[in-house]
Amino acid sequence: MSLNRELQLKAVDNFNTPLYLYDGDRVVQCYRELYDFIKWPKLKIHYAMKANYNFQLLKLLNAQGAALDTVSPAEVLLAFKAGFSHDRIIYTANNMTEDEVDMVNSLGVLMNIGSLSRLERFGEKYPGSEICLRFNPDVVDGGHKHIMTGGDLTKFGILMKDVDQVVEIVKKYELTVVGIHEHTGSGLQHTESVFQSMKNIMTIATVERFPDLKFLDFGGGFKVPYEPNEARIDYVAMGAEITRLFSEYCTEYGKELEMYFEPGKYIVAEAGYLLVEVNTIKDNNGRMIVGCNSGFPQLIRPMLYDAYHHIVNLSNPDGEMKKYDICGNICETGDRFAEQREIAEIREGDILSIENSGAYCYSMGSVYNLRPMPAEVVIYEGEVKLARKAVTNEELINSILD
Ligand code: LLP
Repeated sequence: MSLNRELQLKAVDNFNTPLYLYDGDRVVQCYRELYDFIKWPKLKIHYAMKANYNFQLLKLLNAQGAALDTVSPAEVLLAFKAGFSHDRIIYTANNMTEDEVDMVNSLGVLMNIGSLSRLERFGEKYPGSEICLRFNPDVVDGGHKHIMTGGDLTKFGILMKDVDQVVEIVKKYELTVVGIHEHTGSGLQHTESVFQSMKNIMTIATVERFPDLKFLDFGGGFKVPYEPNEARIDYVAMGAEITRLFSEYCTEYGKELEMYFEPGKYIVAEAGYLLVEVNTIKDNNGRMIVGCNSGFPQLIRPMLYDAYHHIVNLSNPDGEMKKYDICGNICETGDRFAEQREIAEIREGDILSIENSGAYCYSMGSVYNLRPMPAEVVIYEGEVKLARKAVTNEELINSILD
C-alpha cells in the first residue's frame, strides 16, 4: 500500500517542492501490525521518535496509545506536548550530562542507564529510585556499520560481564531495577540476531539478581524493504519465536513480565516520500546527470549509509527506462540520491518521488548551504494537512543573526 501518483502530484500542486509527504494511515497501520506479529498479552510498543518527530504523526501515535523511546530533553518535552504521559516514555540517551539527567528525572520519566559510572552517579544522587538498565547484547547486526549497536566496538550499554558489579551498585543505593534493555542495531538483517540478543539478555536478567523487574525491552531495529524486489521479513514467524522465548523466560522468572520493543523505521519509513523537482539535466559524454531542488541535507541516508531509496518519476511514469545519476543542489560531489539508476525518462520540470523517506530523513536534516528544510504534509483518513511549514530564507537567516 502506498500513496498513489495522483495524490502525490496533487500535494505538489498545493504545497510546492521540495516537500515531505507522509501517509498517516500507513503509520498507524504499521504500529498496529506489530501487535498482530508479537502476540504477547503484555506487549508495549515504544515508538523511537528520533526516526521522525513530526508533530502530527506523534499525535496520531499518541491517540493509538503508543509509548515512546526518547533520547534528548527536547524529545521528552515534545512528547509531552503531543499528549504522551511520563509513564509512557523511556529515556535512553547516551553520554548524558548531569543537567539533562536532573531535568528528565524530575519530569518522572524512567531513565535507562547504560554505563557503570552513570549508574554510580545516579544512585548517589537519587537513591531509592526506579531505573532501567541498558546492556550491550553482544550481537553485531544492522543495515550499515554506523548503525550496528551491539559488540565491543560500540559505546552503547553496560557489558554483560559487568552484571554483578551492577547488582552491587544497585544494592548500595537501594535502586529498584524495573526494566532491562538492549538494542542490537537498526535494519537488522537476520531474525536470528533478535533471538540471540533476547537470549543473552534473558540469561543475565535473573530473578535472583533483579527481583523487581516489570519489563524487558528488546529495542528496535525491525528492517523494512527499501529496494523494490527486497523480500519482506516474515514478522509473523519472527513474532511467534519471540513470544515463545519470552514465555519460557517468564516461566523461569516466575512472573509474566511486560515485553517492550522500540521500533522507529518499521513504523514510519515506508510512509514517507520526499518530492523534488528536476531543474537541470546534463549529458556528461553519455552519463546523464539530473539536478533537482533538494539535496543531502534534506535526506542524507544515501550519502551517509549508501542507502538505497527507490525513485519514481511521477511526471512520466510510462517513459522509457534510462540510467541517471540523481543529484541535489548542494556544493559537494557526493550530493546524490542515486547513482546509475534506471528511471522512466526524466525531463526538466519533472517531479520525482524519493520513497521510504519517513524514517531518519527529515529528522536528520540540516540547513547546510543555508537551504531551509522543506514543508511536511500528512495525509490521514482522506484529510491532507500541512503539518509543518517550510522554513523561509528570511526565517533561516533571522535565526543566525546576532
Ligand atoms: N532503540 C534505540 C535505543 C535506538 O538507538 C534506536 C535507533 C531505536 C530503538 C530504533 O531503531 P529502528 O527501529 O528505527 O531501527 N539514522 C539511521 C538509523 C539510526 C538508528 C539509531 N537508533 C538510519 O537512517 O538508518
